[in-house]
Amino acid sequence: MNGEDKIPEKKEVHRESIFTPFTAKRNNLIKNRNVLQNTFIPIQLPHRDREIEQIAEIIAPSLQKFKPSNILITGRTGTGKTAVLSYIERELKKADPDEENCCYVYVNCEVVDAPTSILYNISNQIIKEHEKKIPFTGWSFDKVYETLVSYIDGEDKVFIVVLDEIDMAFQKKGDEIFYFLTTMNEILKKSQVSIIGITNNTKFTELLSTKIKSRLGEEKIIFTSYTPEQLKDILRERADTAFNPGILDEAVIPYCAAISAQDSGDARRALDLLRIAADIAERNGDTKITEAHVNYARSRIELDAVSEVIKTMPMQSKIVLMSIIRNRDNEDIKKNRMTTGEVYSMYSEICGVLGHQVLTQRRITNIISELDMLGIIHAIVKSYGRNGRTKEIELNITNDIVEMISRDEVFKPLLNYKPKKQTTLM
Ligand SMILES: Nc1ncnc2c1ncn2[C@@H]1O[C@H](COP(=O)(O)OP(=O)(O)O)[C@@H](O)[C@H]1O
Ligand SMILES: [Mg+2]
Repeated sequence: MNGEDKIPEKKEVHRESIFTPFTAKRNNLIKNRNVLQNTFIPIQLPHRDREIEQIAEIIAPSLQKFKPSNILITGRTGTGKTAVLSYIERELKKADPDEENCCYVYVNCEVVDAPTSILYNISNQIIKEHEKKIPFTGWSFDKVYETLVSYIDGEDKVFIVVLDEIDMAFQKKGDEIFYFLTTMNEILKKSQVSIIGITNNTKFTELLSTKIKSRLGEEKIIFTSYTPEQLKDILRERADTAFNPGILDEAVIPYCAAISAQDSGDARRALDLLRIAADIAERNGDTKITEAHVNYARSRIELDAVSEVIKTMPMQSKIVLMSIIRNRDNEDIKKNRMTTGEVYSMYSEICGVLGHQVLTQRRITNIISELDMLGIIHAIVKSYGRNGRTKEIELNITNDIVEMISRDEVFKPLLNYKPKKQTTLM
């Protein structure tokens, strides 16, 4: 094509883009979205003064180059453990900006969990000189350990190593890593290392050997779950920066706090509810955020959680669940409550259509119990006089979820399949 053949450029016509309906509808309710994110560390942490003070008191000697005790922090998820430690880090940096006496190192063991990776991660935070850094691969645990020890000792300071989510590291390799880190001081001559371990698992110490338990838990701090009142204060502080006045309906914060306190006393969940509610209201073009938006947010969070569980279930469990759905929704059957036998009969039929192995009724009874434990179905034990006992099974998921399962690729062959009329089995 030469220049002359070129199609003359059309004059730029101002057209609506596919995004226009969304941007036009969207009200900007959120002034500062950042403060509603889970990664945001607020300047103040309401209701954690006592824990902050406790930790500060324990680690304060490090600022004069004395080794503080090791600390083990436990508390359920969302109780502010990670946030408090970030706060502590900020304060330590204020007290010793050039790290003359004390160096703070944070490792999240959910991300790096193998012992060598943990050591590697610590080393490369500590070792500042590029040429001394440890290569990412090829070094054995022992070599990384020795290099780290000799580097640390050359520094002459106190190292505070925070290991967050330590149960993750434990799952991989037991308490080996804690052993190496807590015994490092026996080799060190000038520097000292203190460990702060953090875990969401309140029973974590039961998993540790006696030796490590006493070493790691020289000091123990427990973060209790937040009460609804405390959650309200936490949310209010964030909301004041996040929204302009008058955007949040008065009932919203108490409602988010009440729901989250009832579930777990988890500040993360409370913040998620508020943020998602605000997002939904914005997207909807509403001018205020109300309890109704919180309800939507709640069901969306639940939907995400349940669909994740269902998606990752073994195939046989999916087929059992599908059988219960079919028994309930099929025109000819339409049974809200059904017996194990009725589930089994539909299950066998579906296995035939999908070409899957049919397990015994006993195995299916076990799968039904699992689904019951996951809260996906309700199974009520009923007594039938001389016939003994049986279970009455009922679905316990929303229609959104039912639709999601029905759309699953694996059930495609069922789309146009009409089940045989069932005879009631017991
Ligand atoms: N006391 C508090 N004040 C303000 N925000 C808090 C408080 N406690 C927790 N948060 C917030 O709640 C979320 C979850 O806290 P996080 O520290 O990650 O919990 P954990 O580490 O115990 O699971 C974070 O966004 C955090 O900033
Ligand atoms: Mg955490």
